[in-house]
Amino acid sequence: MTETVLLVGGGGREHAIARALAESEASLYACAGNRNPGIAAIAEGFETLDTTNPTAVASYAERVDATLAVVGPEGPLAAGVADALDDAGVYAFGPREEQARIETDKAFQRRFMREHDVPGCPDFETFEDVDAACEYIDEYDGDLAVKPAGLTGGKGVRVTGDQVTKEEAKAYLRESDYDRVVLEERLVGEEFTGQAFVANGDLRVTPAVQDHKRAYEGDEGPNTGGMGSYSDSGLALPFMTEEDYREAVDVLKATVEALDGYKGVLYGQFMLTADGVKVVEFNARFGDPEAMNTLPVLNTDFLDVLVAARDGEDLPELSFAPKATVCKYAVPEGYPTDPEAGAKVEITEENAGDALLFYASVDERDDGIYTTTSRAFAVVGIADSITEAEEIAEDALSVAGEEGLDVRHDIGKPDLVQKRIDHVADLRGE
Ligand code: AMP
Ligand code: GLY
Repeated sequence: MTETVLLVGGGGREHAIARALAESEASLYACAGNRNPGIAAIAEGFETLDTTNPTAVASYAERVDATLAVVGPEGPLAAGVADALDDAGVYAFGPREEQARIETDKAFQRRFMREHDVPGCPDFETFEDVDAACEYIDEYDGDLAVKPAGLTGGKGVRVTGDQVTKEEAKAYLRESDYDRVVLEERLVGEEFTGQAFVANGDLRVTPAVQDHKRAYEGDEGPNTGGMGSYSDSGLALPFMTEEDYREAVDVLKATVEALDGYKGVLYGQFMLTADGVKVVEFNARFGDPEAMNTLPVLNTDFLDVLVAARDGEDLPELSFAPKATVCKYAVPEGYPTDPEAGAKVEITEENAGDALLFYASVDERDDGIYTTTSRAFAVVGIADSITEAEEIAEDALSVAGEEGLDVRHDIGKPDLVQKRIDHVADLRGE
């Protein structure tokens, strides 16, 4: 049977999912709030709709006779889009609203870890009252991460001793109107991402990736959705051992066991600290940009994973090309605080050289493609080493030009990769 897959979402991550399915025996349809020209070129149908409206998504799925769906972003998952698709008889590879709380409710997530003894949980408290939270900050002996419990696109967290002082953290809480916050021990170390496909109690892991959340080179500036990322030719990253990665995988396994009937991608944001691997957060979906590192090197047919998940079978063992990847996002100048939209995007899949091009948030007009106020497009280099992959990504960016765009050129460069290695060696007292 030829499958008909509905892809929900229109960012770089979803362009990577679309491309992973393009070679499969599947008809692809997509829906998103914005028209992604890369996905539209691959899909047989592309509908612009509000993807946080479960009824709208489920009726489009029924209209195109979808036999499967993949939900990319967290917004639709939080709104119950996977539930609506499942209930309409279209298996959604993505958790139902209740299980997506592992991402969408950080207070739930920490309590869940504590209750089920999931390893790697930092010291934390949850608050519904700003005064009580401020008092806790004053009394806590050490630095803290201040985290709104709900979704903030990765931009809501403030860390004392890093981005803000304790006074600024309290002012932030008082100015914002978050109804619930988590205050937790500040974790110090190197962050990395571990993503796994999950269904039917099975879990299949993918290579570790490191994202770069800070907007500016040298890890300066405000947090963003992610400016770029790299992976190495094996499962681990250069600053960690295979054993460190196994520790992270054990956390994912313990989480899947405790989450009854989870399906979709489980994403762990980890911190490799002096005391081992700790959990910064979980996401209920692929990372963006991390999906652009992972899916292009996946040799196993992604459709086979989806079909096995739907049919209640064991997930296939995954095989990955032994290649390193470097992904760099081009964002509008001034992003994320003061982004200037409207720059013409000159790069195309044809002139991107050896790099892969993934569109994210762009505006397709009659005379070309233009930037919006969000991340515009990403280029991904794939090669035997991180250094070579980085050079491929940079070659593509030179075609794109600098006009109206910001890029973190330091991502994947030998200096920054070495800095991470030195940081971990330092933490471990080596
Ligand atoms: P999140 O929205 O949970 O991904 O947090 C965004 C970023 O804040 C993370 O990628 C970390 O860099 C930082 N962060 C979150 N929690 C902590 C923590 N407990 N300690 C140190 N940094 C943190
Ligand atoms: N790259 C971070 C995220 O997808 O949340």
